[in-house]
Amino acid sequence: MVNIRSEREIGKIRESSRIVYETLSALSEKIVLGATGKELDQFAETFIRGQGGEPAFKGYMGYPSTLCISIDDEVVHGIPDARKLQNGDIVSIDCGVLKDDYYGDSARTYAVGDVASDVRDLMRITEEALYIGVEKAILGNHVSDIGHAIQSHVEEHSFSVVRELVGHGIGRELHEDPQIPNYGSPGQGVELKEGMCIAIEPMVNLGDKEIFTKDDHWTICTRDGKPSAHFEHTVLVGKVGAQILSNGVSEKAADYAVA
Ligand code: MF3
Ligand code: CO
Repeated sequence: MVNIRSEREIGKIRESSRIVYETLSALSEKIVLGATGKELDQFAETFIRGQGGEPAFKGYMGYPSTLCISIDDEVVHGIPDARKLQNGDIVSIDCGVLKDDYYGDSARTYAVGDVASDVRDLMRITEEALYIGVEKAILGNHVSDIGHAIQSHVEEHSFSVVRELVGHGIGRELHEDPQIPNYGSPGQGVELKEGMCIAIEPMVNLGDKEIFTKDDHWTICTRDGKPSAHFEHTVLVGKVGAQILSNGVSEKAADYAVA
């Protein structure tokens, strides 16, 4: 079942998404040579609680941490640990917040020091693909129009889209219907309606699209060992277009008003 949110509910998803945005922004200064995932995770948990939120991932299906921190060939769901960030790494940080019964979810990939130019391109194209997907999250489009646009942009640049993990509806649960794949042919799946809240999250590999799960049962890695990038926003489908709720623009935009 796909939920349509009231203004009151949207306000709460907006607030949780705002905290996610503030957390990811505060972390950007801390992503430096020698920093560890554990330190970043501890900082994020304290920051989120200071804003009156709770870490959404911690305890979710037994997940142990506030953040998912995925370095280089790790695609998503990396568990923060004591490894030190090194020059040339790319680091995806995924953060979810629960406040007042509603969730927000967003991820960014950050560069550590001097990152190779093809890997920088991978980061840029993945972020562009997210925004191109967001532009398709409009009234009357279908879910697969988002993934089709993302896949087209990624493959034009000879990168590959991970298939096994998808975006999702979000609200009272972290993961709700519909699933939002990052690939596919247009015009398929649920029709998008005003007031739907969805998380769009392309995961893009420099090399082949194949992945595997590490022995920790969480960390997803590329099979070929090449780097992978991930960007995610929580988005509201509105009358005129999609509004991103996790980009720090906290006001309600009149054009996106829902009943
Ligand atoms: N942010 C991830 C997502 O977008 C969820 C992380 S999985 C968790 O679906 F178990 F760590 F929470
Ligand atoms: Co998500």
